[in-house]
Amino acid sequence: MTIGVIGTGTMGIGIAQVAATAGCTVRIFDSYQASLEKAKPGIQKSLDSLVAKGKMEASTAEQIAGRILPATGLPEFQDCSLVIEAIVEKKEIKAAVFQELEGIVSEDCILASNTSSLSIASLAASCRKPERFIGIHFFNPAPVMKLVEIIPAVQTSGSVVNQALTTIKGWGKITVLAKDTPGFIVNRVARPFYGEALRIYDEGIADFATIDWAMKTFGGFPMGPFELMDFIGNDINYTVTETVFHSFFCDPRFMPSFTQKRLMEAGYLGRKSGRGYYDYSPNAYKPSPLEEEKQGRMIFNRVLAMLINEAADAVHYRIASAQDVDLAMTKGVNYPKGLLQWADEIGIQNVVDQLDALFAEYHDTRYRCSALLRKMSVEGSRFFS
Ligand code: NAI
Repeated sequence: MTIGVIGTGTMGIGIAQVAATAGCTVRIFDSYQASLEKAKPGIQKSLDSLVAKGKMEASTAEQIAGRILPATGLPEFQDCSLVIEAIVEKKEIKAAVFQELEGIVSEDCILASNTSSLSIASLAASCRKPERFIGIHFFNPAPVMKLVEIIPAVQTSGSVVNQALTTIKGWGKITVLAKDTPGFIVNRVARPFYGEALRIYDEGIADFATIDWAMKTFGGFPMGPFELMDFIGNDINYTVTETVFHSFFCDPRFMPSFTQKRLMEAGYLGRKSGRGYYDYSPNAYKPSPLEEEKQGRMIFNRVLAMLINEAADAVHYRIASAQDVDLAMTKGVNYPKGLLQWADEIGIQNVVDQLDALFAEYHDTRYRCSALLRKMSVEGSRFFS
């Protein structure tokens, strides 16, 4: 199978490596010559590190690299049966690329976008044959992260959905099906991990170190919210939050925090700039958490209740199945447990009571309980049997 990848930035080279590792011939193109020139050495470096760690034979790495073919222009994508676009996140630029591509590829070539925030329907609408268009959303770094969200647009044909699922599963990935709504599954359901932690900080309930300690100690999360935001970068994390907030018609559940906005404006982006919520300079002061169990549990319970509420609402609005929501959060962002399984374990009624207590305290619709959770608490039902 010959596939095409357009855009050889962070995501494009990762996706090309995944497809070539699965045995595909991969044509790659980038409009910025320097980025295209860096692509093969970048992939080679990633393959070399697998060889050095003993995870791959040197001869295999050589074969994989040999299947990745830089193109001088899109006309060389003529023989591709699937093209995945991973260029700059601008709708008009992506649309122009798909229009050009449709004049080159065969009628049954599938066109896909790796977009994180644009609607798949709006991109499909830029195509002459929108039924062949689909969202295929990888996570960074693509060769490492197992999860891929598959997002059909309203226009996408059933056979294109099936072919996309089969192809991406064949590349060794775990696929989940998501409805074409802002943030798809992961970038929507994960928002309270950051947003509610920021709210707790903004209200002066606890500092960054204490909130991070509480989420790791009582929740078993590999990183606390502030450590994770510093790792992702406050610019990227803030932009995702703001995009999701506006795309959901300013639903207070997704409201961004001024604390994070100011850090971003100050250039305190996190690890990559040497300073974010924490200071990463060599002899920097490391704040200690206030390890008080009652307060730590209160912080963790509040964030978890908000995460479960978002996960349940995604199921309620048919964004994805309960199974896929839990798979997405454990495989896409390494949550220690699926949120809906967690809800079953602690009891749906318990989650509803926590949300109702928050709502009673704040009178803010941010804390409204998902209709699904309330219905399940009345019925006494569970997500999984
Ligand atoms: P990037 O900035 O690293 O790479 C984008 C590449 O596209 C650049 O090399 C640029 O020269 C090229 N490009 C721009 N316009 C082009 C055009 N008209 N034709 C051909 N090439 C063009 O971006 P990144 O981070 O790889 O993101 C790409 C896409 O993947 C975006 O849609 C983003 O939303 C999505 N995404 C990003 C993730 C991440 O963590 N970085 C995760 C999942 C999705």
